[in-house]
Amino acid sequence: MKQLSVAIDGPAGAGKSTVARQVAKQLGLTYVDTGAMYRAITWKALTNGVDLTHEDAITQMAKNTDLRLSMDVKGSDVWVDGTTVSEEIRSPEVTSNVSTIAGQSKVREVLVDKQREMGRRGGVVMDGRDIGTHVLPDAEVKIFLTASIEERARRRYQEMVRRGFKVDLEQLKKEIGLRDEKDKNREHSPLRPAEDAIHLDTTGLSINDVIGRILQYCRTNVGSGE
Ligand code: CDP
Ligand code: CDP
Repeated sequence: MKQLSVAIDGPAGAGKSTVARQVAKQLGLTYVDTGAMYRAITWKALTNGVDLTHEDAITQMAKNTDLRLSMDVKGSDVWVDGTTVSEEIRSPEVTSNVSTIAGQSKVREVLVDKQREMGRRGGVVMDGRDIGTHVLPDAEVKIFLTASIEERARRRYQEMVRRGFKVDLEQLKKEIGLRDEKDKNREHSPLRPAEDAIHLDTTGLSINDVIGRILQYCRTNVGSGE
């Protein structure tokens, strides 16, 4: 029997990965961080000096990359060709370049194929921008997470400081706003809620509040998949 699939989409800093990881853990499902996949390809292109605007070169590179995700207690680990790059893919440089490759349809096709393969039998909580609309349109639970730009920037600022990066809050807010605009307005699989998604504004909500609401929704509407 196909297991439960949960799609969580939304803009940067809405809390998708934090919440998705915990929901997956509580329901005994696998967490798939699709943003990490776009980041990993961006990191590899930057590291190898590949022109990020050269769609065919990036697509070829994505096809030839051994990209693996694994989940542990701290978070998701990302492996590129056998090397772990979990920290590197969160750098400001990768963050400010990722939407360039995320706008390329051929690159998206390669990564979406991998994502669908991971979600083929269900049993996943997958987060990103186009999961409910495009990657897993038949997911039983679809959540669209949002929060005000001020709160999302504040959360990301605190996270970057914790990770040891030097960042400026106002600058971060500008960059998040810019990336959201690019993600919303791109031609291929833009960021938008699926018609059947539940909208959850997390401004002022704690992580546990958000996790609790999503778990309750999973349990009362479709059974837990446990
Ligand atoms: O963690 P944060 O929300 O800042 O970003 P992320 O989820 O790691 O995603 C990084 C970027 O990858 C996004 O800004 C999108 O440009 C792209 N992305 C996408 O296009 N489609 C997805 N399913 C996931 C991420
Ligand atoms: O994946 P996405 O970019 O949507 O957000 P995230 O990386 O899960 O969350 C960004 C930061 O906000 C993390 O440091 C979380 O701990 C924090 N967060 C929060 O403070 N309150 C929430 N309700 C959700 C996340």
